[in-house]
Amino acid sequence: MLKFNCKSCDLSIIGETHGLNLAAEFDNFSEKISSIIKSLNQRKDKPNEWLQWMNLGYNEETVWYVKEFASMVEGRFDNILVLGIGGSALGGLAVTEALLKPYWNLLSEEKRNKLPRIFFLDNIDPDTIKGLLDAIDLKKTLVNVITKSGDTAETMAQYMILKDLMEKELGDNYRKNIVVTTDKKMGVLRQLADQEGYKIFYVPDDIGGRFSVFSSVGLVPFALVGLDIDQMMNGIKDMDLELKNTDIRQNIAAQYALIHYLMYQKGKNISVMMPYSSRLKYIPDWYAQLIAESLGKEFNNNGEKVNVGITPLKAIGATDQHSQIQLYNEGPNDKIITFIRVEEFENTLEIPKIFEYTGVGYLGGKTINDLLNAEADSTKVVLSDCERPNITITIDKIDEYNIAQLLYMLEVQTAIAGELYNINTFNQPGVEQAKNYTYALMGRAGFDGSAEGLKEKLVNV
Ligand code: PA5
Repeated sequence: MLKFNCKSCDLSIIGETHGLNLAAEFDNFSEKISSIIKSLNQRKDKPNEWLQWMNLGYNEETVWYVKEFASMVEGRFDNILVLGIGGSALGGLAVTEALLKPYWNLLSEEKRNKLPRIFFLDNIDPDTIKGLLDAIDLKKTLVNVITKSGDTAETMAQYMILKDLMEKELGDNYRKNIVVTTDKKMGVLRQLADQEGYKIFYVPDDIGGRFSVFSSVGLVPFALVGLDIDQMMNGIKDMDLELKNTDIRQNIAAQYALIHYLMYQKGKNISVMMPYSSRLKYIPDWYAQLIAESLGKEFNNNGEKVNVGITPLKAIGATDQHSQIQLYNEGPNDKIITFIRVEEFENTLEIPKIFEYTGVGYLGGKTINDLLNAEADSTKVVLSDCERPNITITIDKIDEYNIAQLLYMLEVQTAIAGELYNINTFNQPGVEQAKNYTYALMGRAGFDGSAEGLKEKLVNV
């Protein structure tokens, strides 16, 4: 269950200059929000609306196939290696980091309940790729190649390196060590996977990468490392029901979206996400892509040039109290900060009662949990004292149900925010352009036209 506290965005707490009259704004926008929620729910089953991610909680068939595959390969692999980038990697990375035991890949097989380690190659740094290849035994590795388009240069280049190496090491058997997640029809990978006879999972139509974490993109790696994907589905379904409520006062995604939208008009053009939990450290990376690609747009739906977008900023508590908080408290008042708090940690760590008669004696007998909570509380109060708007989302504990609820709520709020800005939330022309330039520079057929002009431009930039 998620608890949502937005009081520190209200003018009664942070003053009129930086705060909002939340009750009045919820009234002003109640009709608009209600019609947005109705429209999203009406459009979600229609083709080309890119809202199929709103149906993923109900996708029992995929869950069944994914679990069947995971049980078929159970015990065969020491490592899962995910090849993917952007929306094909960030959700997997964020969720596995949150839900697997910390330092999972360092644990003994016994402590991992004989489940495999998991690695994400989400970049093309040659040293990192080689480093990982030196560290794992490919014979005991299942490679999950994930690319919705089936064309992305980074992922396909990684796949080509891996395929070549595996074929050399494993002979014809290498095919059993590769599973592909891609589009049903389009893309080079789809054709190659068919030719090679790999096991394939499909990314459903009308789901963009950044909204795909609960499709087979995320579910396959989650099931392979033993996460409870049924509980994830339950979390999404329950949250989906809550977020169908058209009354903004009862709908936390609508409140979150509206507050950010109104704060943006007040010059808060940076959205900081700061979990007070190391296990949640990649959630801000996933969220950064979600809002940056979805809400950062040049034109609105009327074709007017708007150049909107709230800039995501990642932080982690308590670590960043010793790095970024100075800026948040005293620098430009251009941020809205979201804290993510965890009520109940899996462990309670007592600080021993030693050094009693020294300056650190006060810590003895307390717990690390007390200390983390005290730091989170203090930061929130100081920020509010400094008139800095902030929101706190609290989950009772880190588990499959709650993490799925959190991510799904953030997806829905992004869709609502896109409607408020009147932009296309689901396209990414700015990403496509850079992809096309890369293809041109790398000599891909069909893209050579722009290559010459591009080379000239490169000299000047
Ligand atoms: O959200 C998106 O659409 C992008 O970030 C993509 O996920 C990213 O570019 C990778 O694309 P693909 O899955 O087609 O390889």
